[in-house]
Amino acid sequence: MQSQDDLDWVSQHTPAPDGNQDNVIKEPSLEPESKEPSRVERGDRPYEFGKRFLTDEEDVWKFNAWDHVEWGPDQKEEAERQLAAQAQTPVNEFDKKLYLANPARYWDLFYRNNKEKFFKDRKWLRVEFPALYEACKKDAGAVSILEVGCGAGNTMFPVLQENENPELRISGVDFSPRAVEIVKTSPSFDPKFAHAAVWDLADPEGNLPEGIEPHSVDIIVMIFVFSALAPDQWPQAVSNLQKILKPGGRILFRDYGRYDLTQIRFKKGRLLDENFYIRGDGTRVYFFTEEELVEIFGTAFTPVKIATDRRLIVNRQRKIKMYRVWLQAEFSNSK
Ligand SMILES: C[S@@+](CC[C@H](N)C(=O)[O-])C[C@H]1O[C@@H](n2cnc3c(N)ncnc32)[C@H](O)[C@@H]1O
Repeated sequence: MQSQDDLDWVSQHTPAPDGNQDNVIKEPSLEPESKEPSRVERGDRPYEFGKRFLTDEEDVWKFNAWDHVEWGPDQKEEAERQLAAQAQTPVNEFDKKLYLANPARYWDLFYRNNKEKFFKDRKWLRVEFPALYEACKKDAGAVSILEVGCGAGNTMFPVLQENENPELRISGVDFSPRAVEIVKTSPSFDPKFAHAAVWDLADPEGNLPEGIEPHSVDIIVMIFVFSALAPDQWPQAVSNLQKILKPGGRILFRDYGRYDLTQIRFKKGRLLDENFYIRGDGTRVYFFTEEELVEIFGTAFTPVKIATDRRLIVNRQRKIKMYRVWLQAEFSNSK
């Protein structure tokens, strides 16, 4: 039987199911009468997240995944009912203190148990965040990329493998020493271009990662890491990111969205705070809305794009439907 945590991790690592070539960013149609520059003319291309639409419910078992699955009012009500039930049995105060006190410990145990074997390389990065691959072109010039919460390097290494830019520098930081060790000892780690260090995104002293100068990074990547912070750590994390990013630099973000299947499925005794949970392995997870992202990051950065990726993942053999919700965003340091 697949546990909720299995579902969580497996699904988050397969947002674009393998072989789904449909997942390309489509140019939106231009408004014919408009004198204003279109979104395309402004270079503002919204995320598309694929084009396989479920128009006839009878077709649902024909593919493994459907894009842009809109929720009806009944589904939202059901989700709210589940959340209200979870709120009846929050984590007790003693355990809550324990989980909030040393979150890095639980992630470090996670990497002790799973090593580099848990995650798959994030092949969808090429489509969703092309800027990462632009930086790898031969003549891209000096570009510095920092992945925060790099884990075992499943975002960092696919980028590094494509690199033809002699002036690329890609750094991975994580607050789990074991994760950093896994990255540094991987055969894909090329110290000529790559660097890795232990660092807490929400470091309360505002220290920067070892080897990273203030305002020196062009692109910060955060893939399913911000959700691991407690809400009261968000302002410190944003301030730390602000110190690192160059003026004009960008943050590329992907994380859990409100009412994602994995949120709805949390059972009794898992709720730490509103929309913030503790998993069975002691790691924490928050589920965001687009509006919250604007509030959190808008204090320091300019939101360039924010979108919700709603996808129906189907287990055709077992006839299970899984409604996944992820948020994807780009912020720039233009303030
Ligand atoms: C879900 S994993 C994602 C790993 C990686 N980004 C990837 O794409 O495979 C989340 C990672 O964030 C790290 N993490 C969680 N909170 C962190 C914090 N406050 N500072 C630095 N890393 C953190 C965890 O140790 C873990 O490696």
